[in-house]
Amino acid sequence: MKKIIAITKGDGVGPEVIDEALKILEVIADYTEFEFIYQEAPAGGTVFKKYGVNLPNKSFEIIKDSDALLFGAVGLPDLPPGVAESAILKIRQNLDLFVNLRPIKLYEPLRSRCPLKEEFIADGIDITFVRENTEGLYSNYGAEMNENEAKNVMIYTRKGCERIIRYAFDYAQKQGHQKVTSVDKANLLKPSQLWRKIFHEIGENYPSLIKEDIYIDSFCQWLIRAPYKFQTVVTGNMFGDIISDEGAFLIGSLGMASSGNIHPSKISMYEPIHGSAPDIAGKNVANPIGAILSVNLMMQESFNSSEIALEIEKAVEKALYKGRTIDIQEKPLKTVTTEEMGNIIALQLKESLKK
Ligand code: NAI
Ligand code: MG
Repeated sequence: MKKIIAITKGDGVGPEVIDEALKILEVIADYTEFEFIYQEAPAGGTVFKKYGVNLPNKSFEIIKDSDALLFGAVGLPDLPPGVAESAILKIRQNLDLFVNLRPIKLYEPLRSRCPLKEEFIADGIDITFVRENTEGLYSNYGAEMNENEAKNVMIYTRKGCERIIRYAFDYAQKQGHQKVTSVDKANLLKPSQLWRKIFHEIGENYPSLIKEDIYIDSFCQWLIRAPYKFQTVVTGNMFGDIISDEGAFLIGSLGMASSGNIHPSKISMYEPIHGSAPDIAGKNVANPIGAILSVNLMMQESFNSSEIALEIEKAVEKALYKGRTIDIQEKPLKTVTTEEMGNIIALQLKESLKK
């Protein structure tokens, strides 16, 4: 099975972590029927400095003609905010990537790195946030600012709500989850009232799944009080942005979390959720697991290969007993570099795929 993968390494630690993710793709290519063709599609701050644009047309053409995009991170400290980063928004908008999928899973060896007490972790943390990625307060629609007043407009459309909520129910069903939780602020906001209504309309088509509504403020406390209660959580753009960062810290490090910007029938973009981390760039210390687990999401969502995805996760979990990058380090384990962490995971994966 031949797949073309566009690669945007980006800035800072982006290239370092993507090189490790590429090792995982190479193992998959060596031991399964997949064959990958990589096309570099440069974007971000380094590219901006050279060409004056953060997403050259040529890069976007390469992305558009690929089967999926693997993205590192963009942003340089000597450029004004947004100059490099708006490349991400352009890709999301131009490809209509309306799903932002963010799984938050606490791997067993990292339980002691979770900031919650054991009694709150209980059965463990394994939540997938399904965040609407194109509407709400973050869309540019109606945004205005002058010296005395500034506004953003929160608009949700029926079409926008229906497609993300349907995606969440389908995802929950595919994953064998029992419950879908919708997070909104329907006690105050009109868009949330429409959202909630559509959540229940669509939910009727999924009789085997439990439907639950929670207000955003209450959800923020439940997420640290009883995270084991949640499985698939669907929410709007801004709420999703905030709660998924809260969730990411529960699994040990920002460097552990992966994400997919998805259009189910088109090209999707997979990236670790962290940024370019200029404070540690070039030091070979960044945790590459968020990038590696982005490959896991790519296999699962774009290449219809949940079995391989599962093997990647198992390889990560086993590797966490052998060595760790500094952000998740614990004595007496060996502290390893970015490259070594990638090598350990690649070796684990090789051993299981060889069988
Ligand atoms: P950041 O995620 O780059 O870093 C936050 C903290 O987490 C830093 O202390 C960093 O060292 C640490 N960290 C991040 N990734 C890590 C990894 N893989 N392993 C170990 N530690 C890790 O966020 P920050 O500092 O707010 O932003 C830096 C730049 O990245 C900015 O230009 C920002 O706009 C951009 N950014 C880009 C994103 C993207 O490309 N998707 C997402 C978030 C930020
Ligand atoms: Mg965010």
